[in-house]
Amino acid sequence: MSRKKGEQGTSRPAWYEAGRAHVWLPYAQMKTVRAPLPVARTHGCRIVLSDGRELIDGIASWWTACHGYNHPHIRDAVERQLALMPHVMFGGLAHEQALTLARRLAALVPGDLTRVFFSESGSVAVEIAMKMAVQYWLNQGARKRKKFLAFRGGYHGDTTGAMAVCDPDGGMHARFHGLLPEHYLVELPQEEESAANFTRCLERHAEELAGIIVEPLVQGAGGMRFHAASVLQRLREAANRYQIILIFDEIFTGFGRTGNLFACEAAGVVPDIITLSKALTGGTLPLAVTIARDKIFDAFWSDEPGHALLHGPTFMGNALACAAANASLDLFEQEPRLRQVADIAAALEHGLAPCRGLPGVKDVRVKGAVGVVELDRIDDVEGLRARFVNEGVFIRPFGSIIYLTPAFTVGAEELAKLTGAIVSVMSEHS
Ligand SMILES: Cc1ncc(COP(=O)(O)O)c(C=O)c1O
Repeated sequence: MSRKKGEQGTSRPAWYEAGRAHVWLPYAQMKTVRAPLPVARTHGCRIVLSDGRELIDGIASWWTACHGYNHPHIRDAVERQLALMPHVMFGGLAHEQALTLARRLAALVPGDLTRVFFSESGSVAVEIAMKMAVQYWLNQGARKRKKFLAFRGGYHGDTTGAMAVCDPDGGMHARFHGLLPEHYLVELPQEEESAANFTRCLERHAEELAGIIVEPLVQGAGGMRFHAASVLQRLREAANRYQIILIFDEIFTGFGRTGNLFACEAAGVVPDIITLSKALTGGTLPLAVTIARDKIFDAFWSDEPGHALLHGPTFMGNALACAAANASLDLFEQEPRLRQVADIAAALEHGLAPCRGLPGVKDVRVKGAVGVVELDRIDDVEGLRARFVNEGVFIRPFGSIIYLTPAFTVGAEELAKLTGAIVSVMSEHS
């Protein structure tokens, strides 16, 4: 294979040099962004670079690869499905993998969240949840309920509808004021003042509100901010009182990340709609679901064709992705994932504790398999990312946080290396 010397003195494969001028990278100022690392393959919790270096992965590919990479059980299921039928359209046709997955998911999520609508990304699942909530009201003749109540620090995706319910200031979407529909945004009702503000907003605007949308327990991309389960109970009570649809976006928190299979379980709260993606296929193929309670589905059940949910992504219910998701659910059944999450939580607490009290460190917090070191600020985020690579780990700080969301199968030594790298970089930083 022909190679060229890269910026950091490492050699890069020919495909990299030839293709790099043609890709547009995510969340990146293309002029100044550091070159992405060429990856040759993955295994377990490791990313193998094309120059042979091996990094321990601290974030499981944007929180998806919960069983580690290349799990043989998922690979076998996808290979079998590929030979049988990679994909058929979901309009007018049905197949075993999608229907089996829908049945299994409906049994796993709490309460009467029973109707599963497939899509192919988290943002689209959120769009569908919002559309379901608005049309739930339209189908019952309530024409004014088209707004949502969302929370500061929240993140729900990058498509237009989803952007509109993200934190407009703290998030990445401030430039799109004017394009986005305007919704109501308040602080999560965590203490007296924010609770009063939340109630005031509901009192003023309940009749315009289709839904309340929240990431339960952890606001991920907004800065890995945690809140208590009681906040979710408060949201449920308010949604009941003001008769508003409650949407839990569990795209990040779903499938064990916070310690329960779903974060809503920690609060004993059943939302009216839940969105799931990311770890749904164990990080192998794109798939998302929007799952509705019976009462939501019932509002679409009609002799009137216009009452149907008019949505249908081309690749919805993709058979390969559903096979991967079914195999991933097998692993949750067969392997002690939640116990592993509890062990990871303890190891993160222990491993990140030395960061407490270091100059520049504002907070150290852990919830399930999410470990966060929040700093006063990070001046050179790209430089910090490169420091971690030099330590042999892949960790991607953003905003003012350094965080770990490893695969649940991460080894004790690998995890110690991840936390150790953070402690070591922070110690020299200070
Ligand atoms: C809570 C939450 N909702 C929605 C999304 C968007 O998902 P996707 O990137 O698959 O569109 C994300 C992605 O990080 C997320 O964390």
